Amino acid sequence: MLKEFKDQFHKDTLRLHLNNAGLAPISRAARDRILYWGNRFYEEGFYTDADYVADIFHTRQSLAKLIGCDHSEIAFFQSTAGAISQLCFHFPLKAGDEVLTWNQEYASNLYPWQEACKRAGANLVLVESGERLSTPVEKLIAAITDKTKMIAISWLQFQTGARTDIKALSKITKEKDIFLFVDVMQGLGLHEFNMKEWGVDAVAGGSHKWLVSPVGVGYFALDSKHMNMIRPHNVGAYTFGTCDDPADLFCMPKKDALKFEAGSKQVLEITALGASVDLILKTGVKTIETEVLRLSTRLAEGLRHLGFDVHHNGSAHVNFVPKNDSADKLKSLPCNFAVRGPGLRLSPHAFNTDEQIERVLQTLK
Ligand SMILES: Cc1ncc(COP(=O)(O)O)c(C=O)c1O
Repeated sequence: MLKEFKDQFHKDTLRLHLNNAGLAPISRAARDRILYWGNRFYEEGFYTDADYVADIFHTRQSLAKLIGCDHSEIAFFQSTAGAISQLCFHFPLKAGDEVLTWNQEYASNLYPWQEACKRAGANLVLVESGERLSTPVEKLIAAITDKTKMIAISWLQFQTGARTDIKALSKITKEKDIFLFVDVMQGLGLHEFNMKEWGVDAVAGGSHKWLVSPVGVGYFALDSKHMNMIRPHNVGAYTFGTCDDPADLFCMPKKDALKFEAGSKQVLEITALGASVDLILKTGVKTIETEVLRLSTRLAEGLRHLGFDVHHNGSAHVNFVPKNDSADKLKSLPCNFAVRGPGLRLSPHAFNTDEQIERVLQTLK
């Protein structure tokens, strides 16, 4: 299955793609789905209506399998930030409540909570990370007080891939009746995850990294037990029905997560996401994880051997403190990377090869 997965990606003979924690190339299946719908919209227009709706539903079902929830608990947005805004601006925060998060969160999971706390008079508590940007769950747990109503963290942090032990955290959040929200953007598709089994109340993420899909889809999954508590942020025809329903000022919002989708959707991006998620499910997250860990470990060990200070936390993210010419050398390959936190972040996906890792190491020698 790994070979079939690797075969799904463009064999770029000119450039190395090692910023997959930033923006990954999309799979051929995703590209083909975009071409397919592009053609059908060109040729058939409105006559595609029922078919594209069915394809979006298929994406919802596939994504639900990857997240570990029901398809009726998923809503699509345009970005992770959009999905998080749905939750944070409608979670019942009051003055004096506390929201806990790490002090190294990506801005899409930081600014929405900052703003929601400001509006509610609640306090956003930035929990200090551990040594070398680690995220030991004990530190979060120690920061909980009787005012803590929400813990809103990334599963894997964007700078070094530091991972929080969500299962250990959810034992405490359940016990103390604290809502647990997890931004899964840096891990979904890369490591096995299960929202319901792990006791997570809501998750959000986006399409363009480990899900090898085009930029432009954010997803939000909310445990159905909280569905009544969270009102729609964006409101439109689809909050209540479809475009064919007559306007009725007394109609009721939908009962599931579809109420969060106000109107027409990004059909090309969402259906392409479905094609890539199907590929990931067919390949198996475990198979992808094993290959990613093999390649990233080889890269991390090679960099250490060359004398670099490396952050590698059992995931794809390999962040190393550069020497003067490291960035220029990578650019000359060319190999993409991100400047993040302690250094330069490289992040192989399972479609990368040993030969590519070797080229990077040889260049940085
Ligand atoms: C943890 C995390 N969340 C979310 C995102 C993306 O956010 P958005 O979809 O709002 O651009 C990223 C990276 O871009 C990220 O690293």
